[in-house]
Amino acid sequence: MHKISRFFILVLLGLIGIQCAPSVENVVISDTQVKLIPAPDSLSMSGSFSTISEIRLDDVHFWNLHKSWLETYPIAVKLDTISSNLKMEVDSSLLPLQYILNIGADRISIYGHTFADIRNGFISLLQLLQKHERLPMLHIEDRAEFDYRGMHLDVGRHMFDIEDIKQYIDFLTYYKYNRFHWHLTEDQGWRIEIPSYPKLQEIAAFRKETLVGHYNDQPHEFDQTKYGGFYTQLEIREIVAYADARGVEVIPEIEMPGHAQAAIAAYPEFGCTGDQIDVATKWGVFPDVFCPNPETFNFLKVVIDDVVDLFPSSYIHIGGDECPKDQWKASEFCQDLMRREGIKDEYELQSYFIGVIADYIQSKGKSIIGWDEILEGGLHPSATVMSWRGTVGAVAAVKEGHKAIMTPGSHCYFDHYQSSHPDEPLAIGGLTTLEDVYHFDPIPKGLNLEQRKLIWGVQGNVWTEYMKDFDQVSYMALARMMALSEVQWNLPSERDYDGFLNRYVDHVDFWEAKGVSIANHLLDLDVVVRSSPLGSYALMRMPNENTEVYAVYPAGKSSLKNDSFYLEKDGAYSFFAEYDGQEGRQSSIDFKGHLGNKASIDLENLPSKTYAGSGKDALVNGIAASEKKYGGPEWLGFSGKDLIATIGFEESSELSNITIQFFKGEGQWIYLPRSIDISVSEDGLTYSSITAVNKVETEGKMATVSIPLETEAKFVRITARKHGIIEQGRQGAGHQAWLFVGEIILE
Ligand code: ACM
Repeated sequence: MHKISRFFILVLLGLIGIQCAPSVENVVISDTQVKLIPAPDSLSMSGSFSTISEIRLDDVHFWNLHKSWLETYPIAVKLDTISSNLKMEVDSSLLPLQYILNIGADRISIYGHTFADIRNGFISLLQLLQKHERLPMLHIEDRAEFDYRGMHLDVGRHMFDIEDIKQYIDFLTYYKYNRFHWHLTEDQGWRIEIPSYPKLQEIAAFRKETLVGHYNDQPHEFDQTKYGGFYTQLEIREIVAYADARGVEVIPEIEMPGHAQAAIAAYPEFGCTGDQIDVATKWGVFPDVFCPNPETFNFLKVVIDDVVDLFPSSYIHIGGDECPKDQWKASEFCQDLMRREGIKDEYELQSYFIGVIADYIQSKGKSIIGWDEILEGGLHPSATVMSWRGTVGAVAAVKEGHKAIMTPGSHCYFDHYQSSHPDEPLAIGGLTTLEDVYHFDPIPKGLNLEQRKLIWGVQGNVWTEYMKDFDQVSYMALARMMALSEVQWNLPSERDYDGFLNRYVDHVDFWEAKGVSIANHLLDLDVVVRSSPLGSYALMRMPNENTEVYAVYPAGKSSLKNDSFYLEKDGAYSFFAEYDGQEGRQSSIDFKGHLGNKASIDLENLPSKTYAGSGKDALVNGIAASEKKYGGPEWLGFSGKDLIATIGFEESSELSNITIQFFKGEGQWIYLPRSIDISVSEDGLTYSSITAVNKVETEGKMATVSIPLETEAKFVRITARKHGIIEQGRQGAGHQAWLFVGEIILE
């Protein structure tokens, strides 16, 4: 319609002899107007448009796949096997993972090293069609940095319709991903139909109710509503075929030996206790794990037979993460087995378990992928390691000559919050912004060339405890998938975040027009509050240099001329950005001044880089950390370290009280400190302890410890002792606990 009317007007103007200046033909188009994600390695533009007004595609395959989209573009695209003007060819002289897209005056050509690479060139064309009413003449040469470019989806905690899974695969396709890691079994639900074991479908696929709110909310409440279902083998075949047609390989995950409570609820003989248990109704890590007995192995081999039949991928992900060993320790069967087989501890028993399955999978001509815990107790020769607890697992794996996939929580967990704005929908925790994802460097330091080559690729993970429906999945995943696609295609030195944002906003419009839920936090103001000798001030990161920023506070509203604002009175302050007529969300803080605001603060141990808050000042800036969630600017998280904070005043000051906030989130391995010691000094060299707290407890998610004092000092030192290694039977057993500290209020 739009095209016809413009054509009509041009004809009319021509007829009545009016010059149309500038005519569309003379408009120069520059590379910043080409909004491809991921950005191509090289893009050269001739500056003008091709004369193509209709794309005649001779590839029935691509036509069938993308017909519903192609038919909606402003440039007509049609199937024409006789007089095509779009040529697509495999050219094996190109580098692996490389494609070329050339748009000439009247022809389009796409070359790829393989068919999969042609797909990527075709997607670039689709993205251009999304944006342009006339195609710019250009030449693109592009090559993926990594072969393995994956997205994961957990359907155990919440599951999604087949049509939603297809849409997820569409997202993958559109950003040139080539692997879909489908996490099919969990404590809270077994989702793959295995007809030989009908109780999986009757029992393991359903939980009687689901936790309401966050795991850290106490007491736990449940919705008293049965939840579940499973994907039939027919549906799974449909998904595999759908993905395959789009150049996406589906890698199924069958979790073992941990995260197996749903299967054990259906068949208690696969556990070590034989107890009848329920499918899990809340989140976390559970003690009921598969027992390495013959019944379990027979069962898992049948499952693998079906999986081999359903999924053409050469890989099967066998999980391997978060397997508590308590039941194995207590099991006579396991202890006997260990003696018989000369297995020295339960970690080796886990390796033995994985080994039996990996051998079986290898006998079917396939290999395993496992989470990085599969390194503990020895790696199976065929294993590929998925490094999620940071990158150390990947480093260890490649040093042993194994392939590794990078998916560290710090950059690749899209279940984390993506903005610290308080209106964000409930998420598991953490904060992994679009920018954090964008800056990920998948190659760990200190690897030699051979080891670097074993870094097979990068994957984003979507765990769905807090994603009840597919809108929430796309809200959490899609924007960060775009950023991660650029990580998969371009080295850090080739990336440009501002350039990415310029393209990203166009893609947001594209998806929103299709009714897809997508996050856009570009107008969210990142407000941090710093302490200084002059008192606390708010510092804002402007989303864009032309943004207007306003402060709203008890006394009125003002436009800010620079990006800092002193907080002179106690009370609530809000800030928001305005750009191009659009107003961003308000960011609010509640300031309550205290002696610490103008003091200096030093930390003996640094917080983890991922949970460094807005820096050490956050501990004394007058802004209490929120009980709602850890992460964000006000919480500092220490991994396996004590808090040792020294606060120095300009001159000796009277102190009557110290109040300290600690977060408790055992599901995320965040534990309260064991004790707190307060010591003081006049010279900053010799400290004397003046009081201690030997027990820190709370019923809720936050302990606010108030310590009365009667002292005068120039320096105060606060030592909060870490919990240390988490005991067996508790969340995160065997790992170092985190210590999260909020505000330290000095009065
Ligand atoms: C994991 O996030 N437990 C692999």
